[in-house]
Amino acid sequence: MRATSTGQRLDITRAPLAERSTLAEDVRDGLTRPFKELVPKHLYDARGCELFDEICTLEEYYPTRTERAILTAAAADISDRTGAIELVELGAGSASKTRVLLDAIDADGRLERYVPFDIAEAVVRPTALAILGEYPELGQVHGVVGDFISDLDLIPEPATAAPRILALLGSTIGNFVGVERAALLSGITSLLRPQDRLLLGTDLVKDPAVLEAAYNDRRGVTAAFNLNLLEVINRELDGDLPVENFEHVARFESDLDWVEMRLRARAPCQARIGALNLEVDFVAGEEMRTEISAKFTPARIEDNLAAAGLEIERIYTDAGDLFALTLARPAA
Ligand code: SAH
Ligand code: AVI
Repeated sequence: MRATSTGQRLDITRAPLAERSTLAEDVRDGLTRPFKELVPKHLYDARGCELFDEICTLEEYYPTRTERAILTAAAADISDRTGAIELVELGAGSASKTRVLLDAIDADGRLERYVPFDIAEAVVRPTALAILGEYPELGQVHGVVGDFISDLDLIPEPATAAPRILALLGSTIGNFVGVERAALLSGITSLLRPQDRLLLGTDLVKDPAVLEAAYNDRRGVTAAFNLNLLEVINRELDGDLPVENFEHVARFESDLDWVEMRLRARAPCQARIGALNLEVDFVAGEEMRTEISAKFTPARIEDNLAAAGLEIERIYTDAGDLFALTLARPAA
């Protein structure tokens, strides 16, 4: 029998903090390189998550509304084709678009479990509680706080033999390139039984002006999101990086098909990261990479999936071919 009180319907698993929080190692490694670089997962403290949700509402940031529109058109078909009773969402954040899919599965009377997985402790519980409140028929929400690069084993086993969907939306896969992307996709494949499906959201290659505007919004929300990474380091690692000396840069690298976000030092500066006993120098104009947001073509989606042992069942896109949502299955 299904548990009814929120307490019994809610479960949260957390990866040990010492394993999940690689900030100290990442900052030491990234800030001592000749071309300084930070890891984008650290953008998502509580403030970073709020700023990301604000980015999703910006006129220039087309990916969220486009992916939502694609999902809205495709959700009934996805629910129908997959017969899923369970949705596991990697990098769930506040799950704003996820409701569209949950609604479709719910309308088919099959919604049993939702598993929001995110590195950001600040979002997992509120998201889980909100979804529980909105879907009284949902048997369980099992939140996981962890890194989907290293902690996929924390995902609960499928509830039954009935199919489940693993979703990675928002083009979060675009934060990873090369072997890391391949490893993430292979890790996902290893979670899929023959009856399960991956639902992958990917932003597509397009006019560089459109891409650059999406990461250089007029209100400066993306700039604040990027600069917040320095606040995270200062707070968590006892640093004194002069945030006001840095400016947001986002460029489409056309030879690499990705948007690169960087922070540029306006003037020379020195900072100390107390917890690492590390002094860092920046020369005037020096740029530090903070995020890569790779853009895809249908051929690259197919190729990346095939390399991970997956094959495309369907690709859903919008009329402007801005964004793609791919339903994939383990290759036969
Ligand atoms: N899926 C939502 C949010 C995308 S933002 C959407 O489509 O709008 C990316 C999300 O992935 C953030 O919530 C961030 O905290 C999470 N994330 C980033 N790197 C992660 C990692 N390595 N492991 C787990 N979650 C991660
Ligand atoms: C979630 N994610 C991959 C976003 C993107 O579009 O690359 C993050 C983002 N960074 C700046 N704006 C949005």
